[in-house]
Amino acid sequence: MQKITILGLGYIGLPTAITLADVGFAVTGFDTNKEVVNILNTGKIHIVEPGLADALRRAVSGGNLNFSYSLNESDVFYIAVPTPFFTDKGRISADLSYVKSAGEMVAKVIREGNLVILESTVPPRTTEQLAEIIAKESGLSEDKFLVAHCPERVIPGQMLRELKNNDRIVGGRSPEAGEMAKAIYEKVLEKGKVHLTNDLTAEMCKLTENTFRDINIAYANELSIICDELGIDVFELISLANCHPRVNILNPGVGVGGHCIAVDPWFIYEQFPEEAKLIYAARLRNDSKPRYVADRVEDAVSGKKKPVIGVLGLSYKPDVDDLRESPSIELCHELQKRGFEVLACEPFVQGDISSVKNRTLSEVVSSSDFIVITLAHTLFKENKALIATKPYYDCVGLMRKG
Ligand SMILES: NC(=O)c1ccc[n+]([C@@H]2O[C@H](COP(=O)([O-])OP(=O)(O)OC[C@H]3O[C@@H](n4cnc5c(N)ncnc54)[C@H](O)[C@@H]3O)[C@@H](O)[C@H]2O)c1
Repeated sequence: MQKITILGLGYIGLPTAITLADVGFAVTGFDTNKEVVNILNTGKIHIVEPGLADALRRAVSGGNLNFSYSLNESDVFYIAVPTPFFTDKGRISADLSYVKSAGEMVAKVIREGNLVILESTVPPRTTEQLAEIIAKESGLSEDKFLVAHCPERVIPGQMLRELKNNDRIVGGRSPEAGEMAKAIYEKVLEKGKVHLTNDLTAEMCKLTENTFRDINIAYANELSIICDELGIDVFELISLANCHPRVNILNPGVGVGGHCIAVDPWFIYEQFPEEAKLIYAARLRNDSKPRYVADRVEDAVSGKKKPVIGVLGLSYKPDVDDLRESPSIELCHELQKRGFEVLACEPFVQGDISSVKNRTLSEVVSSSDFIVITLAHTLFKENKALIATKPYYDCVGLMRKG
């Protein structure tokens, strides 16, 4: 039985650890955040993901999964650490500090023949840099250990199912690394297939997928603005256009959020600013949508004295608690900047969020003069009649009939 250690026990690392333990690997989960390890050691989970708490209990009681504060020797190391971006003097860059530090940690315990799999989403050539860091810090030459990049494509809310059913891109730094990683993924996959390639193509593949979605959503967001001008329903328009067998336009919203689609296009743009003009324009279009929605709110409440604005949904997509890069929070801040009092309802998070008051749905509806619907959380779908008691701007088509 191969020993696998997962570095990073967040939205990706934890379900991955559980899934690997389920198929018989001896898995240790390691996280630099001791609080995370503490919670997991009590049998609880620190993120919202359907079925994950039960799956964790099963995996731990099966004896194949444990969590540790220290990183020890292993046959395989998975790296699933954050890769956000930062802006410095107007230039956007990937923050690879977590990947680098994970590489340095692995270097302290790696042995000849071990495999390192980078699952984090990264800019082109990061896997190569990771291999160089491990070689430099461990003293092992690069041909003495194996490195592969296997980007993760699961969607929050359906992680456990998708980890088994999605196809996997496995990019080996060497054919041997690719084959060894492929053998592990094939033990986990039920419907999904493994596609072997090199690490650079695998890195670009993940970025290409999310950038495609970002551009498609930017188109939908642009259409929503044009439809507002025309006075027609963008959701009807898109569903009619999608009747064409070769058209598939995604839905508009209050922008684009989350750790992936709103971030990954920048990883291409930062290295290719001259070439990536369409990618850049799409990012700007999506990032500008919260300001556009704030304009619509201002128009709608003009003349009212000190109107209170209710915002329904602060996470970045329906029925999850993930607030990263959330355009709804951006909208709230924009409205606050313009002098409005903002009340929000985010049922998946306890307490106020980033200086925005978070209240129950009925409190928000009853206290607001105008409502912005930013997410189709199930709670909101089930309470359309309550929401309709106030005037609203619906970014996501929640209140449409049918
Ligand atoms: N969340 C998603 O839906 C999703 C989907 C596909 C790909 N990804 C990619 O997967 C990667 C991880 O994302 P996530 O959502 O799981 O992040 P996350 O923030 O939920 O979890 C990352 C964890 O890594 C820990 N960590 C940081 N440095 C560490 C280190 N050196 N050693 C051990 N642990 C460390 C953090 O404490 C945190 O608990 C990112 O690159 C992301 O872009 C995420």
